[in-house]
Amino acid sequence: MTVRIAPSILSADFARLAEAVGHAKDGGADLLHVDVMDGHFVPNITVGPPVVAGLKRATSLPLDVHLMITNPDRYLEAFVEAGASMITVHAEVLPHLHRTLTAIRLLGAKAGVAINPSTPVASIGEVTAEIDHLLVMSVNPGFGGQPLIPRTFHKLTEARELLARAGSSAAIEVDGGVEVENAGALVKAGASVLVAGSAIFGSHDPAAAIRALRRAAEAG
Ligand code: DX5
Ligand code: ZN
Repeated sequence: MTVRIAPSILSADFARLAEAVGHAKDGGADLLHVDVMDGHFVPNITVGPPVVAGLKRATSLPLDVHLMITNPDRYLEAFVEAGASMITVHAEVLPHLHRTLTAIRLLGAKAGVAINPSTPVASIGEVTAEIDHLLVMSVNPGFGGQPLIPRTFHKLTEARELLARAGSSAAIEVDGGVEVENAGALVKAGASVLVAGSAIFGSHDPAAAIRALRRAAEAG
């Protein structure tokens, strides 16, 4: 299986984002993961559309925008206009998930759903035809540098089975606590996109860290 590596800039130096995206490109990253937090859905606050627009100017890597915000509908257009190629919204905040996913695709971006560790995989069962990717949170969202919750392996396999049954070829992202030591097992369990923040930007050589993650992911 082809594995994509998505460095999360959450763990980069926000004063040197251009440098961080340069390292991501040098290391052969496939996507750039941007964590948007609003201080409501999660306790932390990060960045918004202006920073996404700045990243878009700084890199040719597709921007994978993970919205950890309570009202994503209000901002979809702004993020797509800013340059997001992929938009991921959280199932927990959306009573009209189908409508939101359809709206993301109509705007021209790839649509994804994220599920928290306490949210069952089955919650995306009715929208498999509307998603390009599913993001399985392997930590409680809000902060980088947390250890991966072991139950994630089971959820990834469940997600892979659910998508296969539905005839969906949606990618499965895993986000939180991803490192060289667990990358192979995560891919074996079902992940096809590895999001990693501290394992990459916490390293003294982020490009080498990306290459190491890819090797580990492909070695299983
Ligand atoms: C956490 C974010 C993650 C975060 C992962 O809420 O969604 O993308 O950057 O960071 P690490 O890889 O350090 O766990
Ligand atoms: Zn994320």
